[in-house]
Amino acid sequence: MSARIDAFVVAVPGLEPLVLGEVQKLGVRPARPVRGGVECTVTWPQLWAINLRSRSATRVVVRVARFKADGFHSFQKGLAAIPWSEWLAPNAGVQVSVTSDKESKLYHTGAVEERAMETLARPLGEQVVLIRILHDIVTISLDASGAPLHHRGWRGPAGKAPLRESLGAALVTASEWDAKTPLVDPFCGSGTIAIEAALIARRMAPGRNRSFAFQQWPTFEDDAWARVLRGADGDVVEKCPPIIASDRDAGAIAATIENAARAGVGDNIETAVRAVSDLVLPPRAGWIVCNPPYGQRVGGDDIRNLYDRFGAVLREKAVGWNVAVLGSSDTPVARLHLPLRPALSTTNGGIEVVLHTGPVPPAP
Ligand SMILES: C[S@@+](CC[C@H](N)C(=O)[O-])C[C@H]1O[C@@H](n2cnc3c(N)ncnc32)[C@H](O)[C@@H]1O
Repeated sequence: MSARIDAFVVAVPGLEPLVLGEVQKLGVRPARPVRGGVECTVTWPQLWAINLRSRSATRVVVRVARFKADGFHSFQKGLAAIPWSEWLAPNAGVQVSVTSDKESKLYHTGAVEERAMETLARPLGEQVVLIRILHDIVTISLDASGAPLHHRGWRGPAGKAPLRESLGAALVTASEWDAKTPLVDPFCGSGTIAIEAALIARRMAPGRNRSFAFQQWPTFEDDAWARVLRGADGDVVEKCPPIIASDRDAGAIAATIENAARAGVGDNIETAVRAVSDLVLPPRAGWIVCNPPYGQRVGGDDIRNLYDRFGAVLREKAVGWNVAVLGSSDTPVARLHLPLRPALSTTNGGIEVVLHTGPVPPAP
């Protein structure tokens, strides 16, 4: 159990600092952010805990070997020299995922994949062996997560353009919500932001209701895993500030209610079918965190009208609140007429997006 493993915690570009914070909070040292993730050295229980508890990461992979290969012979020799029985269960099936640069002799990824499967001599299966070749240096890693970490196990109905759960959590963290005062999402769709906020406030581990690839590895130990789970469960609190999710679409609210129940936070989220122009806020000021439509047209309305109306409602009803709005380059955030600044830049479904945050000041 005291082995130290080189791990890479994969993150969507832009979310690396948040993932670094999450990894450090679990006591992982050293940890270094690079583009696309965080490099770190971990014990096995730390690797499991990152999978269980990271809210913003995509997946975790572990480095198995690194060697030089300038042809298929040296590639297959290097791959065969890896003590696979220490990494994979005797009957585990594998699949390989190869990336290579044009500078390397082994640039034909299809041919590398074929030789790798031949050398590994295992049936096709779920354990993913990642092969990366850069300037003839081959890095072999194993995917410890399995399904991506945003698959928490709670999503049923998806609604229109749902956010990835890891991005929903990242927005709440980047909004700097204090998890003590109310959080409102008036464009809640399937409820991702509100559900991730409730999981954060109640300190519930996002991966508690799913399984991971590492559970099939020979290094997995039931007792040590039970301790990691107990540690996570011991942190859970019942107390949760008001979290309010509304949307003008009744189907979206039905999806939010079902998803919140599946995530175990059904009692922590208040829902309402309501257009943003009828926004209702609790008396105590808190945070409005949302992902309004980005498109040019929204159900027949012009997106500019929507932002004009949203801005007017905020300036009328939300003085003293903090606002965090996710938008794309097409989103007319300036029409809110609020002193917002970019707090996070990342991508959502291939679109570049920015979270704009700031206070709603009193009228001059
Ligand atoms: C991009 S989606 C939000 C997705 C959500 N974050 C999720 O993860 O599922 C935008 C939502 O805004 C809602 N919407 C559009 N115009 C609205 C309005 N004027 N008032 C309230 N909701 C509105 C839509 O019904 C849609 O569910």
